[in-house]
Amino acid sequence: MADLPSSNLESLKKEAAERAALLVQPGMRVGLGSGSTSKYAILAIGRRFQAGELAGVVGVATSEASDTLARSLGLSVETLDPRPLDLAIDGADEIDPHLNLIKGLGGALLREKLTEVQARRLVIIADHSKLVTRLGEKAPLPVEIARFGFLSTLERLRALGLGGRLRQPGAQPYLTDNGNYIFDAQLPETFDAAALERTLKGTLGVVETGFFLGMAERAFVAAPEGVLELERA
Ligand code: A5P
Repeated sequence: MADLPSSNLESLKKEAAERAALLVQPGMRVGLGSGSTSKYAILAIGRRFQAGELAGVVGVATSEASDTLARSLGLSVETLDPRPLDLAIDGADEIDPHLNLIKGLGGALLREKLTEVQARRLVIIADHSKLVTRLGEKAPLPVEIARFGFLSTLERLRALGLGGRLRQPGAQPYLTDNGNYIFDAQLPETFDAAALERTLKGTLGVVETGFFLGMAERAFVAAPEGVLELERA
């Protein structure tokens, strides 16, 4: 696919987000994603709410930033409880042909997974640069790890054969909304994502991974030819 000027890409991301926001119905409990594309979706849901189209809608935010934005638009926001969500709308960092995802470059993977696993429908919104033939092609796999004993956890991850680095944008490691660190793992060319997910989840010190496997039902992807609508086979 041809590269687009960033202003066009932004407008397509916005269009993808607005298409997803049209799936929200009055009274729904909706998972609100994180990142720049999700921001457009929250703004679109807020506009529909303010126009009186979405009475009784409740949002469950996957990050502090999305929570603040949703509240600023007048939306009701609740914390996650065991009730299912009707819908969740979120961005992604990689989308494979089966709509398996890598998420968490924005650092919100734990709250995103906790929220979206409870959604009856998870709809992804992204630009076409996120489409990959295999997970790990372009992005690392974010792995959220406990801060306590993190050097030992990093050794355990390296012992699994995973290259990568602790996320550290400045003098200090990046801290998630949950007070944890993130290890950005380089994935090998061939691997079994489900098996690796199980191994990582069984590794002491690992809190969560950015694999979202078999969760997304649909994706609206902004591309040069317009917004593509992809369904999980
Ligand atoms: C947040 O942790 C991520 O999972 C985001 O959903 C992801 O980084 C997508 O962000 P953009 O929409 O800004 O690309």
